[in-house]
Amino acid sequence: ALITLRQLLDHAAEKGYGVPAFNINNMEQGLAIMKAAAACDAPVIMQASRGARSYAGDIMLRHMIQALSEMYPDIPICMHQDHGNNEATCLSAIRHGFTSVMMDGSLMEDMKTPADWDYNIAITERVARMAHWVGASVEGELGVLGSLETGEAAKEDGSGAEGKLSKEQLLTDPDESLDFVKLTKVDALAIACGTSHGAYKFSSKPTGETLAIQRIEDIHAKIPDVHLVMHGSSSVPQYLQDLINESGGEMPQTYGVPVEEIERGIKSGVRKVNIDTDIRMAITGQFRKVAKDKPTEFDPRKFTIPAMAEMEKLCRDRFERFGTAGNA
Ligand code: G3H
Ligand code: 13P
Ligand code: NA
Ligand code: ZN
Repeated sequence: ALITLRQLLDHAAEKGYGVPAFNINNMEQGLAIMKAAAACDAPVIMQASRGARSYAGDIMLRHMIQALSEMYPDIPICMHQDHGNNEATCLSAIRHGFTSVMMDGSLMEDMKTPADWDYNIAITERVARMAHWVGASVEGELGVLGSLETGEAAKEDGSGAEGKLSKEQLLTDPDESLDFVKLTKVDALAIACGTSHGAYKFSSKPTGETLAIQRIEDIHAKIPDVHLVMHGSSSVPQYLQDLINESGGEMPQTYGVPVEEIERGIKSGVRKVNIDTDIRMAITGQFRKVAKDKPTEFDPRKFTIPAMAEMEKLCRDRFERFGTAGNA
């Protein structure tokens, strides 16, 4: 059945677990996530970016979610808009059956220019008020996602803030978090702690200097009842970098967010953990492997079946390590 983010994260907080929020763009991702969730009895958050909505189409996504919930009637599913940039994006998502939206007012509508406090409060409060009228949940963001190493958002995929960001912007302020949630009435708060989108988060294994889990603990101490969201939470596992590079890929060595650091976050109020890059790498790794091992193959299912198995393995691991397993 479809449920809201609020319902799911209230349960997660009560039981002390975290929920991975996997980005989806197509049927294969949806099938693999649901198969993993059913195997470990976990509730699911699937999220679609604006890019995913224009790729698959709103009607296709709406019917896909309906289909997945019919196929897995015992698994609760929250369908969430990832990084909504304005009221129209959020409201049209709700109209297409999404039960939750992110209004990302940390950036202006162009999703490149860091926004100021007044803009973020006003637009997030407006979206939360409208979403709540119709029973949908809202995630807001305070702080700008980006690297504490370089002071920049990861831009290899063209997403994130443009220009240099200050440490102030890159680390969410605990006192401001309290005011932000009071003024906007969001159901969940995305915070910035040194993670960034994409594969190139850290140039070496992160330390307390580059990945500030301590900051999450400080925020949680101020607002213990607020559900926190960690963006940019792919672990960029070495085995997937190797899989890609052993099959003709040329991804430079990189480091993501170690799963044990996410587990630490979950102990401090992180309830939603956004993961896109790891799934992309699982798919691409298997596509490349099949292409390399069987150059005569041209049936796309021979590519998508191992890709789904690789995704499923990744999803199961996160459901288990985050404590989501057993909570459907
Ligand atoms: O926030 C970024 C997510 O990884 C979605 O990426 O906009 O390329 O679909 P996308
Ligand atoms: P990753 O790029 O680390 O997977 O982050 C995804 C994300 O935060 C989507 O909102
Ligand atoms: Na989101
Ligand atoms: Zn994100």
